[in-house]
Amino acid sequence: MQAASARLGRAALRELGGHGNLRQPMSAHPSFIQASGLSMHYAVGTRRVNVLREVDLQIEAGTRVAIAGPSGSGKTSLLLLLSGLERPTAGLIRIDGIDLAELDADGLADLRRQRIGIVFQNFHLLPSLSALDNAALPLRMAGDGRAREAAAAMLQRVGLGDRLQHRPTELSGGEQQRVAIARALVHRPRLLLADEPTGNLDGDTAASVRELLFGLNRELGTTLVLVTHDMDFAARCDRVLRLHDGQLQETAPEPARALPA
Ligand SMILES: Nc1ncnc2c1ncn2[C@@H]1O[C@H](COP(=O)(O)OP(=O)(O)OP(=O)(O)O)[C@@H](O)[C@H]1O
Ligand SMILES: [Mg+2]
Repeated sequence: MQAASARLGRAALRELGGHGNLRQPMSAHPSFIQASGLSMHYAVGTRRVNVLREVDLQIEAGTRVAIAGPSGSGKTSLLLLLSGLERPTAGLIRIDGIDLAELDADGLADLRRQRIGIVFQNFHLLPSLSALDNAALPLRMAGDGRAREAAAAMLQRVGLGDRLQHRPTELSGGEQQRVAIARALVHRPRLLLADEPTGNLDGDTAASVRELLFGLNRELGTTLVLVTHDMDFAARCDRVLRLHDGQLQETAPEPARALPA
């Protein structure tokens, strides 16, 4: 792992591990996530791609929130903003009372390492590491001596107990997705931001991942923010928000069909 760490660039290390401690104390705040007046655009050459326009969002701790919306509507961009991996053009984001604008890159990395798990839409696994070492990375970076045991247990929970030594190229797309989920959950984050976490999975495997996420929500009070096109998944969330034309709208959840919770 030391060799693997040496092979990672500083930015990747910062991203996955971080250094030092958060300097800002947790402050009591009515909403666990609070975003207000959030705008974001990307610049491509001389063109501007407007993604979010003055979005307001409040999410209470321990709730399960589905984010839906058409392709290109800004769902991934919104998750990147909430994780501090992108900065908004305007507006304020507080996570657990912490104003993200007041944190530098290391502070944001610490926040993620301590409190946030992220499942990226395209996984972002490190190609040179086994499934086990990928899933163990957040705990390794935090200096946890039981990182590998915890990662193995989490990989077992996502059905990959017999794939621990496989590298990402030796795993199917759905298996890579489950390694990404194990990595996002291994440090028991207070907030999980997951970008279509069941997008590559068959019905049964998707159901077991759904169970895992909802189980953590019940057991640990993990706040779930899930981008999903799976309406059964969305229907089991407390809220469903829909992004369209840069705006986020609350929609009435459709009643869940007769599937396991
Ligand atoms: N790095 C970037 N530079 C420029 N434009 C970008 C960048 N990333 C995304 N975009 C554009 O921003 C818009 C929102 O992208 P985003 O990835 O957030 O959409 P999405 O809702 O997650 O879509 P999908 O459902 O296809 O994953 C898209 O129109 C996309 O082309
Ligand atoms: Mg996306």
